[in-house]
Amino acid sequence: MMTMLPPPTQMVLREGYCEFNYGQPDPDLLPVDALRRAAAMALDTFGPDTLAYGAPEGAWPLLAWIQERTREREGVTVALDECIGTAGNSDAIDQVCTLFTRPGDVAIVESPTYHLGLKILRDHHLDLRAVPMDESGLRMDALDATLAQLGREGKQARLVYTIPTFHNPTGVNLSLDRRRALVDRAVRHGFLILEDDVYRELAYDVVSPPALFSLAPRGVVLRMGSFAKSLAPGLRLGWINCSAEQARRFADGGLRDSGGAPNFTAAMMVAALCRSGDFDAHVARLRAAYRERRDALAAALARHLPEGCAFTTPGGGYFIWVTLPAGMDADAVRHAADAHRVAFIPGGRVSIDGRGRECLRLAFSLMKPAQLEEGARRLGAAIAAAA
Ligand SMILES: Cc1ncc(COP(=O)(O)O)c(C=O)c1O
Repeated sequence: MMTMLPPPTQMVLREGYCEFNYGQPDPDLLPVDALRRAAAMALDTFGPDTLAYGAPEGAWPLLAWIQERTREREGVTVALDECIGTAGNSDAIDQVCTLFTRPGDVAIVESPTYHLGLKILRDHHLDLRAVPMDESGLRMDALDATLAQLGREGKQARLVYTIPTFHNPTGVNLSLDRRRALVDRAVRHGFLILEDDVYRELAYDVVSPPALFSLAPRGVVLRMGSFAKSLAPGLRLGWINCSAEQARRFADGGLRDSGGAPNFTAAMMVAALCRSGDFDAHVARLRAAYRERRDALAAALARHLPEGCAFTTPGGGYFIWVTLPAGMDADAVRHAADAHRVAFIPGGRVSIDGRGRECLRLAFSLMKPAQLEEGARRLGAAIAAAA
């Protein structure tokens, strides 16, 4: 008898729905052919080594490519021993918490932030404190107030988790002044900055701002990069730029001593893909496709959202952040949205301090322009119905 297995992927789309809730790539934009070629290239070049336990630091061919690209694209020189392979940014957050925090340590997060990142920090029993954002990113006055409050409690922040570039969920970039100010606070107060740089490659009409990592003395910022958005999330592949000493802590940990670097075979394939020129070609295709989608959704929202709504138009990344008319709560719109078969993430789910309840997150990555138009129409109708 045939056993019915559940779907193999995390994302299960509902028939007839406009799903703005998934911050995931359109399956039609995943690099199937390039990876098929890359798998053959890696196996032809490295043979069975491709399938062995990897070096604890990660796949050297890939780390060397990341090093070159960081120098070429960002003008930042990173030594090879300042880069460590990871299984993507979720894994990186988890590993940083495992090695650099203890339960009860204070972790400062943005409000709003990446809600699933919050879940990982919570797995490590950290004492989470929220600092609000505005259109220039994390508010430094509010950060200073939080640091002062911690001082009164006799506590110190251990880390700040931030998404300074094409932020999830708001789409905003942390301004250069604030980037410098944040690094300054980290140095003065002795906390680590955990920089989630997952959207850096997806810049549509602005240049991605300098990474916090590039503005800080070594040892202050752990910058997490990932191939989840620039290639494919299922690869589970990324890296951390940090100090050589911090990199050693990852490499010497029990996890890598036992299993080597995570997803080594995928890393060897991605190294071949990147070296072949397919990475740049693929990213150029993504930028063009997502720029068109961002523009399509922004234009459709301008047409369909009721009076009193506002939204961000990000220079990159996956998300538009909508603010509802005064007094409305995004949770209250969900019921009407369900009736109109349109889904989003309500702002209350992506913050820990109750802020943003009047906001909602829309991902424009998954749907094509015509579906985005239809989704905006349904969302406008749902908001009007809930008002
Ligand atoms: C800000 C942010 N960090 C991390 C991730 C997950 O990254 P990865 O797939 O590399 O674990 C996402 C995915 O949506 C994200 O938006």
